[in-house]
Amino acid sequence: MRIDILTLFPQMFDGLLNCSIIARARERGLVDIRFHDIRAHTHDKHRVVDDYPYGGGAGMVLKPEPIFEAVEAIKAELGLSTVPTILLSPQGRLFDQIIAKDLAEYEHLILICGHYEGVDERVAEYLTNDEISIGDYLLSGGEIAAMVVTDCVVRLLPGVLGSEESLVEESHIGGLLEYPQYTRPEVYRDLAVPSVLLSGDHGEIARWRRQQSLLRTAKRRPDLLDKVVLSTEDRKLLSKASEIKS
Ligand code: 6GU
Repeated sequence: MRIDILTLFPQMFDGLLNCSIIARARERGLVDIRFHDIRAHTHDKHRVVDDYPYGGGAGMVLKPEPIFEAVEAIKAELGLSTVPTILLSPQGRLFDQIIAKDLAEYEHLILICGHYEGVDERVAEYLTNDEISIGDYLLSGGEIAAMVVTDCVVRLLPGVLGSEESLVEESHIGGLLEYPQYTRPEVYRDLAVPSVLLSGDHGEIARWRRQQSLLRTAKRRPDLLDKVVLSTEDRKLLSKASEIKS
């Protein structure tokens, strides 16, 4: 897969590229990530990328020309007339694991990072196919969001994760929250690991873990629980535990 990222701050991505999984995927040729400085596509002496909003109001808006030209240059280089192009903005649809899986199917992606108070709407309307937000909070720019999307997508590409890591992945997409994990020591500062995990009874351990996943999800993310089909056994595990707690 190739990912082209348009940004005013390419240096912000240094950390992402040094992250172990992404770095390894790049070294192994599983993903080609390239950066394009939007400012390099200006033509004026002062390399202006933003301007005042029509109609007035606070803040500056990113101009359409350098962004259109940067995207067109990438498409020309690829010899393609259409490439899935995504604007990262707080007005986008909410990113999740399902969207990440969909994006991981593409051969190419272009990500555009917005900045300042906004991006000229003609970019969203005529240049991009999708607009994505990573959550209901305001970032100062789309760069961190583009890193989130890139990280999620790259780890889904075939061969990026080891087979063991991929198995964990499969069992948790859109499902329940993960059960609590423990490692040695058995007792740390008087804090003991739940005894069931040391029992060697694999059936009992599996039941306990399932119950912990169900309880956590019910308590912290009831919205996820609504989407999951629960077995009769699951319902028993949930109700048994709530009897104990109440
Ligand atoms: Cl994609 N951009 C900005 N500026 N803020 C955000 C976001 C994106 N997603 C969540 N908050």
